[in-house]
Amino acid sequence: MDTNKKNKIKEILDKMSLEQKVAQMMQIPYSVVGREKALEWAEKGAGSFLHVLGDNARELQETAIHSGQGIPVLFGIDAIHGHGLNENATIFPSQLALACSWNPELIEQMGKMTAREVAADGLHWTFSPVLCLGRDTRWGRIDETFGEDAYLAGELGAAMIKGYQGDDLRNPERILACAKHYIGYGEAVGGRDACDTEMTYRKLKDVFLPPFQKAVEAGCATFMTAYGSIDGEPFTASEKTLKEILRGELGFDGFVVTDWDNVNSLVSNQHVAADSKEATLLAAKAGNDMIMTSEAFYEAAIALVREGTLAETVIDEAVLHILTIKERMGLLECPQRKVPAEYIGCEEHLALNRRLADESVVLLKNEEILPLAANVKKIAVIGPNADDIRAQYGDWTYFTHPDPHPEHEPMRPYATVLEGIKEAAGADVTVSYAKGCAVKAADEDNLEEAVRMAKDSDVVVLVLGDMIEQAGETKDRADLALTGRQVELFDRIKETGKKLITVLVSSKPLCMTKIVEGSDAFLVSFNGGMFGGNAVANVISGKVNPSAKLPISFPRHSGQVPIYYNSLPGWHGGKYCDLPAEPLFTFGQGLSYSRFVYRDLAVTQKKDQLTLSVCVENVSERDGEEIVQVYFHDVVSSVMTPVKQLIRFEKVAVPAGMSKCVQFILRDSDFSLVNRQEQRVSEPGEVELMVGSSARDEDLQKTTITIA
Ligand code: NOJ
Repeated sequence: MDTNKKNKIKEILDKMSLEQKVAQMMQIPYSVVGREKALEWAEKGAGSFLHVLGDNARELQETAIHSGQGIPVLFGIDAIHGHGLNENATIFPSQLALACSWNPELIEQMGKMTAREVAADGLHWTFSPVLCLGRDTRWGRIDETFGEDAYLAGELGAAMIKGYQGDDLRNPERILACAKHYIGYGEAVGGRDACDTEMTYRKLKDVFLPPFQKAVEAGCATFMTAYGSIDGEPFTASEKTLKEILRGELGFDGFVVTDWDNVNSLVSNQHVAADSKEATLLAAKAGNDMIMTSEAFYEAAIALVREGTLAETVIDEAVLHILTIKERMGLLECPQRKVPAEYIGCEEHLALNRRLADESVVLLKNEEILPLAANVKKIAVIGPNADDIRAQYGDWTYFTHPDPHPEHEPMRPYATVLEGIKEAAGADVTVSYAKGCAVKAADEDNLEEAVRMAKDSDVVVLVLGDMIEQAGETKDRADLALTGRQVELFDRIKETGKKLITVLVSSKPLCMTKIVEGSDAFLVSFNGGMFGGNAVANVISGKVNPSAKLPISFPRHSGQVPIYYNSLPGWHGGKYCDLPAEPLFTFGQGLSYSRFVYRDLAVTQKKDQLTLSVCVENVSERDGEEIVQVYFHDVVSSVMTPVKQLIRFEKVAVPAGMSKCVQFILRDSDFSLVNRQEQRVSEPGEVELMVGSSARDEDLQKTTITIA
């Protein structure tokens, strides 16, 4: 930052009282404290509010700029798959569903459009993207992740950050991104939300840090700390993760916000502090700049500075970080940004949303039944998630936050799977519907009606899954099997002998091996957003040729979890005695109506640059898109390394009967590891390169190179 700006911020800081400085560190939850209390906080000079929209936010801003030092406040919101807490906004597919597209360009666009809608509501900041890895699918927040792989999460996360922030934060249509939850949150023991992450710092840096590093490189302005702990030390109290690694090693220069109530949690949940003063001291010294909720921090920090226990420079540093971002946004000169309200839910945003939904449906099995033939005249749509917009949206919309309101009247436009199939069906096709059963067994379950309807059809589309009560914070699952009478419903439909297309609409992979094996086709549409239902129908009808690939593995059984493609080697026997080692579906898998053949894998090596090329031929009669994936395996290394690791991918459009050749430029640093000294290094020796259509060995071609 230039010296003038630095001086300007320093001048503001010098004029602030201790009370005003500590207030600047506070982020107040509007939905909890209410309007009166919030206005008092705005007068005191609170730095930020969360979960407040539109006119309520504008009122707080007016109050803030006419009180004390007149420093504008930042408004933060969880706009994590669109600005979903506003019921008129565009609700995109969940992060996990978006990840199925493997399409950074579209995800960047989605970030840009979400930013416009958030900004049109008078807000400045979204708590997104989530860069936790979804490796233990029992965890309740799998839907919020980009899946199990750090490289994919890093690429998609960086794209999303660029979309939110653009290249100039002064642009009123751009908002601050927030990389969260720093760090290791998804890897808590047993998938238990916010539990201890039992791992070494070497592993943390090797596996979990890279997406956060990419976030810093993409210019992400803010980071949110995780609820949990590592090796018994809460992340809120961790100078090592916040100062040494984030600021020191990654060079982060934005500000850090805690997660919800993290400071109080040091006392009430984690028991490493006896009272709020001890907790405040730990959190402030560790390097947390902004304190989400935990209002006791305010009095405690002031008292600690006054009695000489906490240096005022610690507070100054935090406030400098916050003011610097406010300055970078131009907020200090222009506190009320004006962005047209017409952006909210506008046609352009809805059009992108449709594309993203289409690109996020993964076809995983197709026994020559899809796309549906023209002679199919009667479609029975059956199942609990066939016509349930809440299940389709998943977490983080107005149904679930800030207070859960599942009974809320859903806002149009949207289409459930049933509605999508009706829209897509020709005039001479009859579409019938029976719910069959609920996701949770209920008195209204009516399997007989569903069976009758199936018998009277040419083909059944069975839509199963989970519900919003099974996804999100504190909603961890021990058992990933389908709940209620869903399996019984499948069995009864199967008995009819009708052709059966099963669709999973859910927040995460569920265990449904028998169902997949017994179905003629199987598709996954994780929470697909407004047009998730159209997207499923488009794939079934053949209007869209599916191109999505799994960003996460599908276990056969809950007992296989955690299961991910890039595991370490060394399992004695390499399998369970009662289950196969492999998941039902592996990372990277996904079918198309085209057929692709990989040819001419070649590598040329020049100094530390390596060019890998491969040609993909479309040997079918249908134009299609293929996601070409490149993995590597370090043959011998000083520490154990994964059996394979994704290092590049590219989505290519290949017209029918044509070939497209793709080139990937690789560097030695792509084959790096974190050694026992916790340093990232590239070691000389043999490296296997693998290219193909998924992480499964049978889908990959291999070649070996030597790194000097
Ligand atoms: C807690 C969640 O962990 C975090 O992801 C979210 O941004 C905050 N609450 C604010 O709602």
